[in-house]
Amino acid sequence: MKKILVTGGAGYIGSHTVVSLVEQGYFPVIVDDLRNSSLVLLEGLKELCGDRFSFLSIDICEKSHLFSVFESRAIDAVIHFAAYKSVGESCDVPLRYYQNNLIGLMNVLEACQTFKVEKFVFSSSCTVYGEPEVRQVFESTPKRLPESPYGFTKWMGEQIIEDIHRNPQPFNTLCLRYFNPIGAHPSGFIGELPVGIPNNLLPYITQTAAGIREHLTVFGDDYPTPDGTCIRDYIHVCDVAEAHVRALQHEGSLPLDVFNIGTGKGTSVLEMVRSFMDVSGLNLPYQLGARRPGDITEIFANVEKSKRELGWTAQRSVEDALRDAWNWEQQLKQHD
Ligand code: UD1
Repeated sequence: MKKILVTGGAGYIGSHTVVSLVEQGYFPVIVDDLRNSSLVLLEGLKELCGDRFSFLSIDICEKSHLFSVFESRAIDAVIHFAAYKSVGESCDVPLRYYQNNLIGLMNVLEACQTFKVEKFVFSSSCTVYGEPEVRQVFESTPKRLPESPYGFTKWMGEQIIEDIHRNPQPFNTLCLRYFNPIGAHPSGFIGELPVGIPNNLLPYITQTAAGIREHLTVFGDDYPTPDGTCIRDYIHVCDVAEAHVRALQHEGSLPLDVFNIGTGKGTSVLEMVRSFMDVSGLNLPYQLGARRPGDITEIFANVEKSKRELGWTAQRSVEDALRDAWNWEQQLKQHD
């Protein structure tokens, strides 16, 4: 059974990926110091996966601690999630983002070289396209400078990976550029657990519906889109998780390759609000507010390459994701 090291495996996308890996017969070794996640997700993982994974509380920025994991276990491949991801926070404390996201990545890459793993999968983001000239982006669409230190850590992460692949590497690398992962596992055992006030749209919507927040503010209704609100490519987190399994199974000839992980379809903020009301049967209080600095107008993925070369496409709808996210929010309330 192949052992897959999953850094940040107790986080949002990481935990869903652990479930997909177990379902496909892999043995995930989670490395996570729980600074940005919680035992709730680990308990959920135990419900879903039993003892078919292991967990180590380790800070990957401590190189000797990370290397000790590779020394004591035969790791076949690595999926690297562990990173900070709040755009706004990264503007307030940029050094914290650069230190954590880049030192963590470099330590993991050095371990992959030293211990000769087969494959490395990097959590990248559509943020590397910046504000694109086109609305639908291909992997070949030129990268642009991102708007935030968070975005730069992903942009530089891809650059570091590209640079080390100028020399032959013992491992193949796939960078997966996620669009907007949303939703939760349909079981309600794992989902998104934002720390403090959510920055992202969907957790804000579900917390408002649960009465934790008074109302949602829609950031800007004067964008050049049909209803004036921003458009994004929202993708179910279980679809994102399954893309990682395909990435591990991928037998492409390139030592380094990049894939868009989205649905190929754009949805506006107001469409998300209306769909949530339809799915939940609730009235969601919202107000139209000012634009949020750094937001781009519209971006969605072209997913032909992922379909053709990874044999992967999103299987779930935005409505499925909204239903699962709402189910998760209600389960969380019962935990309190
Ligand atoms: C951003 C990053 C993305 C990153 C993700 C993770 C960019 C371009 N995108 O996505 O790379 O992976 O964060 O945190 O840097 N909105 C509201 N009200 C709210 C919250 C959000 O109207 O209370 C709107 C936003 O203005 C935006 C949309 O909802 O139009 C989605 O926002 P969000 O969920 O924060 O994701 P992105 O900013 O697209």
